[in-house]
Amino acid sequence: MLHDVDKLDRVKPDVNGLTHAQGSADWLARRGYAELGPAISGHPVTLLADRAWFETWIASSTPETLIVSYADKRAGQRLESMAQRFASWEHRYPPAVRAERPRGSWTADTVEQVWHRAEELESRVCELSGIRPDEVRRLEWTGRAIAAVAAGWHR
Ligand SMILES: [Fe+2]
Repeated sequence: MLHDVDKLDRVKPDVNGLTHAQGSADWLARRGYAELGPAISGHPVTLLADRAWFETWIASSTPETLIVSYADKRAGQRLESMAQRFASWEHRYPPAVRAERPRGSWTADTVEQVWHRAEELESRVCELSGIRPDEVRRLEWTGRAIAAVAAGWHR
């Protein structure tokens, strides 16, 4: 729930100059939760465009780190398949918008490589978890936890 905290308007001023996710990790570290940083900093899908980074990251990351990144590729507001999630990103960031953003430089080949790396991540996490991708579910407590965080955050 905290991996995207640096996207919140009230947090953005505190993370100026840091990349997405690094900002979240830094913000949490300054509040005594530095141990969450490694699991958060590797989640942005844009990192999957870097083959060397990905190969080192997937070989050296803890299960928690891999799970946070995989969860980011399965959940928007709701749990969805990776194909749905990637389609959602494509819809929200069409070529005209991407031209203004780092992903705008992605070629079709890079998009395909990112997809294959996401599939490798999915396979690794599902292997570690002993489940298939279609068996991924939100646990019963998550709805209550999200509601509690939302209620507290808006106070
Ligand atoms: Fe994110």
